[in-house]
Order: sequence, then C-alpha cells, then structure tokens
Amino acid sequence: MEFTIREMTLQDYDAVYALWSETEGIGLSSADTSERIAAFLQRNPGMSFVAHVQGQLVGALLGGTDGRRGYLHHLAVRPQWRGAGIGYQLVARALAALKQAGVDRCHIFVYADNAAGKAFWKKVGWYERTELMLMSYDLT
Ligand SMILES: CC(C)(COP(=O)(O)OP(=O)(O)OC[C@H]1O[C@@H](n2cnc3c(N)ncnc32)[C@H](O)[C@@H]1OP(=O)(O)O)[C@@H](O)C(=O)NCCC(=O)NCCS
Repeated sequence: MEFTIREMTLQDYDAVYALWSETEGIGLSSADTSERIAAFLQRNPGMSFVAHVQGQLVGALLGGTDGRRGYLHHLAVRPQWRGAGIGYQLVARALAALKQAGVDRCHIFVYADNAAGKAFWKKVGWYERTELMLMSYDLT
C-alpha cells in the first residue's frame, strides 16, 4: 500500500480535525481550534506531518518543541490504513525534525486507559515514566 508523508500546513486543518474527531484515544480541546493550530505550526515549522493515500488524508501528527524538550500530540491513523507503517513513519519524521533542531528527548501524553496506544508506543521504542504524573493548571 502506497502512502505519502509531507509537512502539515494550515490548509490541512479541516481534514486533520475531522480525522482527530473520529479517532479513539484523541482528546480535543480549546487548544485545537484552527487559530491555535496555526500558532502551533508557526512556532514549530517542519515538525508536524500528514499522511495521504490516493489523495485522501489517512494520518496526522503534531510535533513541536519548547526549545528544551520535544512533544508529540494527536497521532492518528484511519482504522482501515493501520498496520502499514504510517504511524511509525509520521513519528519518525517528527523525531528527525526534532533531532535536527537539537532536541534529545521527546515526550507524549497518552490517556491511561488507551491500552492499544500504549502498546504502539512501546512497540516503537518509547518507555513509560512511572515515576511521573501529569498535573495541569487552568489560566481561564
Ligand atoms: C496508534 C496508531 C497511530 C498506530 O498507527 P499504525 O499506522 O497502525 O502503526 P504502524 O503500522 O506504523 O505500526 C508500527 C509498529 O507498531 C505495531 N503496532 C501498531 N499498533 C499497535 C498496537 N496497538 N499494539 C501493539 N503494536 C502495534 C505494528 O505492528 C508495527 O510493528 P512492526 O514494525 O513490527 O510491524 C493507530 O493505531 C491509531 O491511530 N490509534 C488510535 C489513536 C491513538 O491511540 N493514538 C495515540 C495517541 S497517544
């Protein structure tokens, strides 16, 4: 199965948002409006990617850095195209871009009940940080 991967642009937003909305394990919020994604892409050029099969968007991933560590968000592949290496390649492209920017460690956020997602990340070399927990503060 042939797929292509290229950098995500804001023109991809509607298709990417639709994919994320339909994908289990992806949590969308007010941080995912087109304005916020535009800002994210502008701050992190060349680090977010989309995958296509025959012109149809089938996968997406946001990648970025705060200048210190890398972060990946919202990795999603359409169910019928899973198991073909698309997820792996999206991650590989983002990690290569982060490495090029001098980043030497990358983090992800995974829902604790996303067993399939966790299994994927472990299969492709990521490790769980059992000594850490995530805390947040709302500035609204
Ligand atoms: C997780 C996800 C992105 C994987 O995408 P994918 O394109 O199917 O993954 P790949 O085909 O690139 O798989 C890469 C390797 O991981 C393995 N793998 C894929 N999904 C797996 C899973 N759920 N459990 C264990 N291994 C898995 C593949 O077999 C492959 O191994 P191989 O190289 O030995 O063949 C996809 O299943 C998805 O969109 N899931 C729902 C959204 C989600 O949970 N995203 C993560 C949020 S943190």
